[in-house]
Parts: sequence; structure tokens; C-alpha cells
Amino acid sequence: MAKEKKIQEIEDLPGIGEVSASKLRAVGVDSLDKVATMPPHELAEAAGISTDAAKKAVQAAQESTTVNYETGNAVSERRAQVGKISTGAADLDELIGGGMEAGAITEAYGKFASGKTQLGFQLCVDVQLPKEDGGLEGKVLFIDTESTFRPERISEIAKARGINPEKALSNIFYVRVQTTDQQILTAERADKLIQENNIKLIVVDSMMALFRAEFIGRGALGERQGKLNMHIHKLQGLADKHNLAVYLTNQVMDNPGILFGDPTTPIGGNIMAHAATTRLYMRKSKEEKRIVRLIDSPNMPEGECVIKITRDGIKS
Ligand code: GTP
Ligand code: MG
Repeated sequence: MAKEKKIQEIEDLPGIGEVSASKLRAVGVDSLDKVATMPPHELAEAAGISTDAAKKAVQAAQESTTVNYETGNAVSERRAQVGKISTGAADLDELIGGGMEAGAITEAYGKFASGKTQLGFQLCVDVQLPKEDGGLEGKVLFIDTESTFRPERISEIAKARGINPEKALSNIFYVRVQTTDQQILTAERADKLIQENNIKLIVVDSMMALFRAEFIGRGALGERQGKLNMHIHKLQGLADKHNLAVYLTNQVMDNPGILFGDPTTPIGGNIMAHAATTRLYMRKSKEEKRIVRLIDSPNMPEGECVIKITRDGIKS
């Protein structure tokens, strides 16, 4: 008996033709998993099909999606292989468990001049190093929302690492974005660039600045968070799929609701809070010293360390 065509895309589902599929994609329903978890009446409305047809499509989507289990040992073995990028400072590497992890999002938040961008520059160089020297032998996609990318700083840091500065700069794909739409699209379209160039680090500096500027007032908050959520999911997807590190910088605001302790809160609410696997809070100290606090990590205890911003980059 001839086997039925394997269902791989939403248009392969019974009752979903090209027209319905494009209607669904337009509202963000672009995968079988999404269809599989939709109430049939919603699918019917979004795709412009009958509820009966929608029920069949949902069932077919559920049957076609698989859940893959693996044992804890397999996860453990995989975790041991996870690539890490050195931050330049041994103490900071230790604080975050051996360096900035590939396959994950790391966020650094803090006030101006706390060193968020400088740490990003250091990572841009260090990711290019051989594995034994704390790199991933990869290239960088740098998404700049604030025009604070400084090639001369990359050159200085590269020289200090023994990398030819021009070569270091040629391994960085730089995009200046002016709107949240451009920011989102840059990530949406990054797959090919990443694959063809062995990109192992994406920097978004800063993640929230444009979102904050474009969506003003309470009324806009829902829309902002919705777009932000989509953007973060894409970045996490890129991190997973290409096993690369995502480094986001974020600004802070003073939260007058906090009476005791440090009232500084990162922007972006719950969506940002849940986005990063690791969150770092950076504070200015004396002269070139900066205090980095590990706020949130699935496997490392909270703690602090001191780093220095020097001409040659980040140091312990
Ligand atoms: P915002 O983007 O404004 O929120 O700040 P940021 O946290 O990104 O700050 P950034 O990483 O740009 O850090 C700026 C600090 O780094 C300033 O205090 C600079 O003096 C310092 N800095 C930048 N370049 C050098 C350098 O070549 N040598 C030294 N020693 N310090 C530097
Ligand atoms: Mg900055």
C-alpha cells in the first residue's frame, strides 16, 4: 500500500491549502506544533475553513508531531560538549561556569558606562579564538541599535589577543538597525548568514533601546511585549539551531516600588526576565573596575566578581 505523504509543513495538513497556509503564516501560525496546540475553532477562523475541517487538521498535526525523549545521561554528555566563550576575565568565566555558553542567551544589564558594550567587544574577539584558548573558532553577527560599535576597540582587543586586527574585524558582520522592525527582521533573516559563515556569537546591543523608544505609554505595552517575545524566541531558536551564543545588553530603570536594596531593574519585564539563561548585573566601581553580579543561572550559584575594563579589553 502506498504510504501517505509525510506531513512536514502546515500546507501538508488535510484541508489546509496554500491559501489557508498563507493566512495562518500571516498571523504567526507557521509550524505543525502551533497548529497541534490550537483550539479547532480558532484555527477555523484564522485559516478561513470550517470547524470540522479544522478539527481534522489539528488532529493530523498532533499525530505528525513527535516528542523525542533522551535519558539524563545523554543530556549530561551533551552538556559536557557545550561550547563556551571566555570573557577575558578568569573570575567572570568562573562565576558563569567556565565562560559564556553557546546554545543560550546571556543578558548583561546595568547603567551607562557599566561595561556592557565593552564586554560585547571582548566576546566578539574571543569567539574567534581556537577552542583551547577560550573561543569557538567562529564569527560574529553584531546588531547595533545605538551606534556604539567601535572598530578601533575591537582592533585593540584583538591585538592584545594576538589576532590580526583586520582579520578580527572581517569576521564581524555588523548591522546598524534604526527600528524594532529592522531589529526583528535582522534576526529573522540571519539563518543563511549564520550557516554560511560559521557564526558562533550574536550580539544585540542594546536589546531594548528601540522597543523602549517606539512603544511609549501603557497602551503600547501589550504590543511591545508581543513583538519582543517573538524576537526573543527567534534569537533562542538561532542559539539552539546553530549552537551559538547570544549576548544581549539591556538598560535599567529605577524602580521606586523597591524600598530596600538596589532599586535598579532591567527593562523588558517578565519577557526579558525569562529570556536569558544567564543574567548579569554590571555596576561601575572605582576607576576601571566593574562589579558583575550573576543574578539568574540554572546551574551556578549567585555571586559577584570584579572585572577591569582596560585598553586591552576585559581583565580580572
Ligand atoms: P551604555 O551603553 O551607555 O548603557 O553603557 P555600557 O554599559 O555599554 O558601557 P560601555 O561598555 O560602553 O563602557 C564604557 C566604559 O568603558 C567607560 O567608563 C569607558 O571609560 C570605558 N572604556 C572604554 N574604552 C576604554 C579603554 O580603551 N580603556 C579603558 N581603560 N576603559 C575604556
Ligand atoms: Mg553600551
